[in-house]
Amino acid sequence: ALPYDLAGVRVVISAGGTREPLDPVRYLGNRSSGKQGFALARAAAQRGATVTVVAGSTADPGDPAGVEIVRVANAQHLSDEMTKRAAEADVVIMAAAVADFRPVAVAESKIKKGEAGPAPIELTTNPDILRGLVESRAAGRIPGHTVIVGFAAETGDETGGVLDHGRAKLRRKGCDLLVVNAVGDGKAFGTEDNTGWLLSASGTETALPLGSKTLMSSRILDEVRVLVPDEHGT
Ligand code: C5P
Repeated sequence: ALPYDLAGVRVVISAGGTREPLDPVRYLGNRSSGKQGFALARAAAQRGATVTVVAGSTADPGDPAGVEIVRVANAQHLSDEMTKRAAEADVVIMAAAVADFRPVAVAESKIKKGEAGPAPIELTTNPDILRGLVESRAAGRIPGHTVIVGFAAETGDETGGVLDHGRAKLRRKGCDLLVVNAVGDGKAFGTEDNTGWLLSASGTETALPLGSKTLMSSRILDEVRVLVPDEHGT
């Protein structure tokens, strides 16, 4: 039987990629499928949580039953929705692959090929939503008990750089848990399986063995559950 240990816990999860518009028909995007975020949503709902998914671009991950799904297009919309919803959440999980940069200007009509050949695309930095959520919690705009979880998709060799980058990222972002995935070479993005580590701010490091995104979700939620104060659970 499934543990019903997240009953009454309000969980907000971002999932998928963002599309940063260039003109009415073009965007800069990424290969995130949304599968890990949706798997987390399904697993949390099955354990009794009240779940909202804020979803960017996805590759048909299948809408989980009993989960509220809010669609967003770009990083700014994702930021707005997450910031608003985190204020009433016990757990916030940033599984979305948020674009780090967006085009400075969005053309009102389709960009033409032109005589001079391709024009460079000027980019500007998007806000780091995860860091912003941690700062909002410190400032009291998000409840102090809210558990904040980040993801880190790192390329490189699984035993070396990936884990070190993850440790540094956990400190930089200031979140409570960081799920570190190795990506590239067909790993993680768009696949059914996932593997990596779960790092906590208190210093624990748990290897997540290669398995389905469903299995990884239950491992992540097990650690999340420990961090949710009892008065906000069942
Ligand atoms: O810095 P990096 O993009 O590797 O961090 C990944 C984590 O930060 C993910 O949890 C992602 O959802 C989040 N993120 C964010 N806002 C950004 C970029 C990433 O919240 N602009």
